[in-house]
Amino acid sequence: MMMVSLNLPERIRQDFPILQRKVHGKDLVYLDNAASAQKPLAVIEGQREYLANYHANIHRGAHHLAQLATEAFEGARGKIAAHIGAAHTEEVIFTGGSTDAINLVAQAWGRANLTSGDTVLVTRMEHHANIVPWQMVCAEKGAKLVPVNVLEDGTLDLDDYASCLERHQPKMVGFVHASNTLGTINPVAEMCAQAKAAGALTLVDGSQALPHLNIDVQAIDCDFYVATAHKAYGPTGLGFLYGKKSQLESMPPWRGGGEMIESVSFEGTTFNGLPHKFEAGTPHISGGIAFGIALDWMNGVGTDNISHHETHLVKHAHAALGTLKGLRIIGTAPNKVGVVSLVVDGLHPYDLGTLLDGQGMAVRTGHHCTEPLMQHLGLESGTLRMSFAAYTTREEIDRAVIALDRAIKMLR
Ligand SMILES: Cc1ncc(COP(=O)(O)O)c(C=O)c1O
Repeated sequence: MMMVSLNLPERIRQDFPILQRKVHGKDLVYLDNAASAQKPLAVIEGQREYLANYHANIHRGAHHLAQLATEAFEGARGKIAAHIGAAHTEEVIFTGGSTDAINLVAQAWGRANLTSGDTVLVTRMEHHANIVPWQMVCAEKGAKLVPVNVLEDGTLDLDDYASCLERHQPKMVGFVHASNTLGTINPVAEMCAQAKAAGALTLVDGSQALPHLNIDVQAIDCDFYVATAHKAYGPTGLGFLYGKKSQLESMPPWRGGGEMIESVSFEGTTFNGLPHKFEAGTPHISGGIAFGIALDWMNGVGTDNISHHETHLVKHAHAALGTLKGLRIIGTAPNKVGVVSLVVDGLHPYDLGTLLDGQGMAVRTGHHCTEPLMQHLGLESGTLRMSFAAYTTREEIDRAVIALDRAIKMLR
């Protein structure tokens, strides 16, 4: 049941110690959540608790602390699997984040499966993390990387998508679930079905979807899904790769070392089963445990409530920003996560961002790691981006709009 979310920030803001602080003498207004969200106390305490009370390396110890740490870390894997609707816990591989997860697929799957003349299809709205790893493996294998067009309003050109599938017969298709620059939510289940019908595998970059949307990888029916913990109220340097068991089993390992092996000798090495085959070395144990706690926190609040709240915030921000002269919102797709990018005629986003910072407001300016998208939209100086989280209030957006108005008048 969806709860009315108007009072959501009121209920949860006290969970976030950082929201009490001042920046340049002003109350912090944190609108940079697409870059990284703030952490609830439960996540901070959970990480501290592990480090203070049961730190040990996992999996290989017979002693009590090793067992406690292993249970907590593997428990977190189970929480991720349940959260995204994976059929099997071992389909979840811990990685260093989304970037690391995409590199894993590009290297392990790509090097084994791509050959000269093959195509990998991505979209023009991808983060660099879903472009560069493919460029690297395509260059090595003589394959080509083809982008699908994005329309003026920031939606994906689905006609071009269908046409690219038909014309290029790609082996792999990669696309964002939600764009970090435009906020656009892509119809990922339909896109996966189309790709599958064309004989391609699919990788969905869920970095911006995990903090805002319910995710069901079986309903999406993707082959791979990646996300990063720090945008979903968890720690940095930690994320996951979900892969269908059959795909992961057929892929060779990528990184070699401890943990990912079954036995090692100079005559030859055999590899561990899933998920450990792809997890060489000691992982980010405290991060994994804290990520599990972040998902518990999100589930306690209710992802539906967060989505609902952020949809209201986006509508409110669009309406309020629309009153400022010379301001253009970049990305007006009907379905958006809490991301609002904008440009102001004749003004550099960085100058505006700096003036907002002076008022205690954290926004991001630049290309947001989507340079090809910026080139496509003719926005070489990038945009100013406000991005929201469960704790963002309408009042904060109103304050940012007033501050932006003042900044525009100062710079004109
Ligand atoms: C859409 C998208 N993909 C990938 C990433 C990379 O995430 P990470 O740096 O945590 O690997 C980001 C981060 O901004 C993102 O927004």
